[in-house]
Amino acid sequence: MKALTVVPGTSGSAELSEVPEPPVSDGPILVETLSVGICGTDLEILAGEYGWAPPGRERLVLGHESLGRVLEAPDGGPVAAGDLVVGIVRRPDPVPCANCAVLEWDFCRNGRYTERGIKERDGYLSERYRITPDFVVKVDPSLGRLGVLLEPTSVVAKAWEDVDRIGGRAHWAPRSVLVTGAGPIGVLAALIGVERGLDVHVLDRVEAGVKPDLVRALGATYHHGTVAETGLTPDVVIECTGVASVVLDAMTHVGPGGVVCLTGVSSGGHPIEVDEGALNRSMVLENVAVVGSVNANRRHYEQAAATLAAADRDVLARVVTRRVPLEQWASALERHDDDVKVAIDVA
Ligand code: BGC
Repeated sequence: MKALTVVPGTSGSAELSEVPEPPVSDGPILVETLSVGICGTDLEILAGEYGWAPPGRERLVLGHESLGRVLEAPDGGPVAAGDLVVGIVRRPDPVPCANCAVLEWDFCRNGRYTERGIKERDGYLSERYRITPDFVVKVDPSLGRLGVLLEPTSVVAKAWEDVDRIGGRAHWAPRSVLVTGAGPIGVLAALIGVERGLDVHVLDRVEAGVKPDLVRALGATYHHGTVAETGLTPDVVIECTGVASVVLDAMTHVGPGGVVCLTGVSSGGHPIEVDEGALNRSMVLENVAVVGSVNANRRHYEQAAATLAAADRDVLARVVTRRVPLEQWASALERHDDDVKVAIDVA
């Protein structure tokens, strides 16, 4: 079967390879891949800056934002042939650490977790894959190919859960949220904010085009420029750019008792000047909390499945701005100004 593979650590090594059928040892459920989303992590792997091949192998099958259709599944299990499904990305470490032991692998403490398509385990960007019942999540069939948005939605579902748990240290009834960055993670974070009835603001660099229109269609307010220029003191900031100056602005402008959740991965190497004393003073005197958040466990995938099932299909369809057939995979990896989520259609 065909698969998009890469040699981690080697830029420009991606190719459409002929690989063996998925091994039965990967699980009793056989899935036909329909569509796989591409994200910043994939681009980092393709640039040779991230990613690990499975032990003893040179190449890794890429792809962690999957959508597939079950071809074969054991009777009486959670999924049956014909179901639309998404595969969970992370597997707990083999030791396991205290968090992996209770299936909170998104908080793995020893770094020995594996991730499909990222770290030491083949991904989903192959014509077929196999999986065990505990790592497959059913998608509302009415979502069709929009189910490819489930994995990135699981990551923001976790971010929102973190925000709520930290906010809940005192009376917590947030009214406003600022999302920085109108990429897929930002847009999906805003979607959850709107579903919760919050006053949602999204900030990005662009002045016009697909992103501002999409944010307005979601029912949120669009801003460009700096955080300060929005004039907001939001209860929550979900930071999705990873840009140092935006991260700092978020910490400075969040409202009293507010929570800033960092989801963007910075490249590093771009130091900026910070008045640490002033920042410390305002954070202490206003009980500001800053939390980093990555990955998702099964609970977050289920929350994400419910979020997408309840969302307006026309708006979701606008999040997937480009679909590319597998043979033209290379064009899916180019970044266009108006891209939000780009997906490779495998079948
Ligand atoms: C994925 C996460 C993963 C992270 C770090 C993200 O793109 O969505 O599941 O944990 O990369 O590898």
